Amino acid sequence: MPSVLFVCLGNICRSPAAHGAFLEALARANMLEDVRVDSAGTGDWHVGRPPDHRMTKAARQRGIDLTPLRARQVTRQDFDDFSYVFAMDLSNLRDMEALAQGRRTQPQLYLDLIAPGAQREVPDPYYGGAAGFEHVLDLVERASQALITRLTQSD
Ligand code: 4NP
Repeated sequence: MPSVLFVCLGNICRSPAAHGAFLEALARANMLEDVRVDSAGTGDWHVGRPPDHRMTKAARQRGIDLTPLRARQVTRQDFDDFSYVFAMDLSNLRDMEALAQGRRTQPQLYLDLIAPGAQREVPDPYYGGAAGFEHVLDLVERASQALITRLTQSD
């Protein structure tokens, strides 16, 4: 079974949004039983906490439930356990390179699935206003569709 891990810095805004949006897209495609999904942060500040309430609220308005999610930190083992590890931005990607060294799966930028070379990063909404959270959701919802297409083509 393919498995997908979404990674950002804190695991309370972007990667939970990607995680929840992808689960929702899988549910709509009747594929929830076919893919294992998780998310994590490169940092450990928010471990054990639920997603940021601003992201939870914005996601709920799109029918995406983030309330079951809890933050955890990414580990070396994740790069053997998951078949895909998606970074939200270039800083996340760089932070994971050492962890992934010699492991089965190498991290890649999530948005490269939709527009290689165009907008490559999901911007960090943490210190901004509500529009930033909506923008993150727009991006990860689009990428979810591309990921489903990728998985159905390759498995
Ligand atoms: P995330 O956003 O990486 O999308 O979860 C952030 C959450 C928390 C912090 C930074 C980014 N922080 O500095 O605490």
